[in-house]
Amino acid sequence: MALKVKTPCLSPSLLACQKCGTEKGIAGAESIGAPFIHIDVMDGKFVKNVSFGVDFVKEVHDKHKMLNDTHIMVERPWELVEEFAKAGSDIITFHLEACDNHERVEETIKKIHDGGAFAGLCIRPGTPIDSIAPYINSIDLVLLMCVEPGWGGQKFIPETYERIKKTKKLIKENNPSVLLEVDGGINDVTGPKSIEAGADILVTGTYLFGDETPEIRASKILNR
Ligand code: DX5
Ligand code: ZN
Repeated sequence: MALKVKTPCLSPSLLACQKCGTEKGIAGAESIGAPFIHIDVMDGKFVKNVSFGVDFVKEVHDKHKMLNDTHIMVERPWELVEEFAKAGSDIITFHLEACDNHERVEETIKKIHDGGAFAGLCIRPGTPIDSIAPYINSIDLVLLMCVEPGWGGQKFIPETYERIKKTKKLIKENNPSVLLEVDGGINDVTGPKSIEAGADILVTGTYLFGDETPEIRASKILNR
């Protein structure tokens, strides 16, 4: 089963709602008709910060009808993905850099699929796009980081536009059903430019839940 949504679209990030509250974040995401809600899991090892864990997914997964887009910034993801699938994650996106070899990547993807979730593969800004190629036929989504993972509110790295174009080409030529998601520093300038470069799903936290309203900000990101 392929992951099908109307694109381009947004995946509002609950990381930006730690102060204003998860309920408010969910309501904001629903108010803009987002198909996804983005949940950032950080273990304090793969990235220095600690954020949500499996209990948080359990708590929020059925409080709405959006797909739980879970981005796990953790070491040894193959040991955790089954738990996240059971907890209610619809998409589980893990980091290629967290796997020490090819077999571990394959194992993680298989465990995600066996758990009934869609599998996403994420790379940091410095990881070559070509490193995704061996897995393009086994995954449902590619997540390109536009900032170093670990914190919200960072500035978009401009080199990402070229990386989006390159990834889109790889997807089109090999497995067009794969969705391309971008994460970090998305706003009214970087959003439209990322879409133009080929992004399908835009994660947005700080900007979406900033001033104005999520409705106004979403329309600015999507240029509508
Ligand atoms: C960063 C996270 C992002 C973060 C994006 O490591 O993966 O999902 O929430 O937030 P903003 O939109 O604030 O850059
Ligand atoms: Zn994220």
